[in-house]
Amino acid sequence: MVVGAADAVAKISIALDSNENAFGPSPKARAAALAATEHLERYLENPARILVPALASCYGLEEDRIAIGFGSDDLLARIARAYLQPGTALLRSQNSYLKVPNYAYGNDADAVAAPDRDFCTDVDAMLSCLTAETRIVYLANPDNPSGAMLPGTELRRLHAGLPCNVLLVIDGAYSEYVTDPAYEDGEALVRAHDNVVVTRSFSKIHGLAGARVGWVYGPPHVIDTINRIGLTFPLATPSLHAALAALEDREHRDYVRSETALLRDEATQKLNGAGIHVYPGHGNFILMEMGGRESLAREMDTALRAEGISLRRFASPAFDRCLRMTLGRHAETRTATDAIIRLYQDMREARA
Ligand SMILES: Cc1ncc(COP(=O)(O)O)c(C=O)c1O
Repeated sequence: MVVGAADAVAKISIALDSNENAFGPSPKARAAALAATEHLERYLENPARILVPALASCYGLEEDRIAIGFGSDDLLARIARAYLQPGTALLRSQNSYLKVPNYAYGNDADAVAAPDRDFCTDVDAMLSCLTAETRIVYLANPDNPSGAMLPGTELRRLHAGLPCNVLLVIDGAYSEYVTDPAYEDGEALVRAHDNVVVTRSFSKIHGLAGARVGWVYGPPHVIDTINRIGLTFPLATPSLHAALAALEDREHRDYVRSETALLRDEATQKLNGAGIHVYPGHGNFILMEMGGRESLAREMDTALRAEGISLRRFASPAFDRCLRMTLGRHAETRTATDAIIRLYQDMREARA
């Protein structure tokens, strides 16, 4: 989030609460966005004609299987609008991306939650929750807030268990951060089947959350439907140019990816070493669980805010003992990690 009035009151100087990319966009993307402000008096006619071929060439994909949108949020919402209506249901793993039930409710459809295992998607549980009403099965991979990753073999098993009238929506907002070789982004499934889409985002690895650019890879009939219910002018001119420049700057993307992986391992190790459980994470954030008394995560959140550090707590009771920390720049991630460990020790000693 942009540090605004509310944060200024709390004097938040290290904001690690919204899974943004603290390294920022490529300097080339920034420059391209700025240059594009010369043309703000113009509508941007059909940005897909420019961005879709760039995406297809960058990722080796087919142009007729790509649609663009105002962040992946816009695309997820459009997919829900196209495929859900009263009497239908969206199925997800119970502690998956917490915003997703709203996509169902917004279309008067049901949101069904399958039990998980330690915040990891349980494929058998998901398949056992399928009903005749299920139209969408949603999977964030990696997931948010847990950071959990479903390996390729399990992803394919999930898809194999779905009837062909059910659309598997794989949310790959954090895809580029995964370093585990067992991961599959789902693009091969899209190519081979008629009922799979993958959504992707420029907000995370490309550091363009404020520009609002996302894309979806799917079968042509789904892409056509998504395009039909899109806005007439779906992207702002500076956003388009920032996205194009970001795609070309592979060096910046690789830098963000490798530094984030390094910080993820380092913070995980330090916190685990201090007795704070960190769930194995594959995105640009980690989910930690505080042992001890139930209120510890809340107390920790308050104490960190008093030191100008904001992490994310969640209203869902399943996350009562948890805090999510976005991996920021090196110094801020290390400062936050050290503060968590120090406060954790103080809080536990105060009770001993
Ligand atoms: C799992 C997941 N999907 C989608 C989004 C939305 O991203 P975008 O900025 O592309 O709309 C987020 C944002 O944090 C997310 O965590």
